[in-house]
Amino acid sequence: MKSLLLAFLFFYLHSTPALGSADYDSTTTVSNATDFIRTSCSATLYPDLCYSSLCGYANAIQQDPARLARTAIGVSLSRARHMAAFVSNLSREADYGADPRASAALHDCFSNMGDAVDEIRGSLDQMRRLVAPGSESFRFQMGNVQTWMSAALTDEETCTDGFEDVGEWPMKETVCERAANVKKFTSNALALVNSYAEKGTN
Ligand SMILES: *[C@@H]1O[C@H](CO)[C@@H](O)[C@H](O)[C@H]1NC(C)=O
Ligand SMILES: *[C@@H]1O[C@H](CO)[C@@H](O)[C@H](O)[C@H]1NC(C)=O
Repeated sequence: MKSLLLAFLFFYLHSTPALGSADYDSTTTVSNATDFIRTSCSATLYPDLCYSSLCGYANAIQQDPARLARTAIGVSLSRARHMAAFVSNLSREADYGADPRASAALHDCFSNMGDAVDEIRGSLDQMRRLVAPGSESFRFQMGNVQTWMSAALTDEETCTDGFEDVGEWPMKETVCERAANVKKFTSNALALVNSYAEKGTN
């Protein structure tokens, strides 16, 4: 038992320096990446949300502004998709008995959110095929992404417009809050896209 412990200690003491330095390297890389994400997020309207939604991808993002923008678009896409599914579920329920205005507002919201999903998906595809910064094609591609992400933001904004005419409907507040939340992710992604486009065309 004692010799086993000694053998373990021996192994432990002799292996930790190597382990330690490997840990140190990957920790510095990740911490640089999270610093980079934090700094980049400070240029968005919702910096805390930006950081908390992207820091989990630090390893993939590293300190690459294109990957950062692409990841933010991906996060915004998954939020918009989830919202579309939520609204679609609600509208199925609301078709049975709720205020017809609530039902109409939900259908409009679903259609707007669906458009937003298409536009964000198109942006993500474009980011995946992005050419090197500085060229005319790069400007063209980034212009597309900026246009589509702005359109998505507008669609998400108009999603809940129809609810202004809906009186007492128990889910009204929930739907509007969730739509406002999705909008924050899209706004952040657009801000990161804009700052990358600006840097890459100078
Ligand atoms: C991380 O940052 C430190 C200090 O800023 C720097 O010396 C190091 O090279 C960076 N490491 C990577 C992997 O970027
Ligand atoms: C929508 O409804 C389906 C089926 O009931 C359910 O599995 C899914 O989680 C719901 N999605 C949302 C976002 O509420």
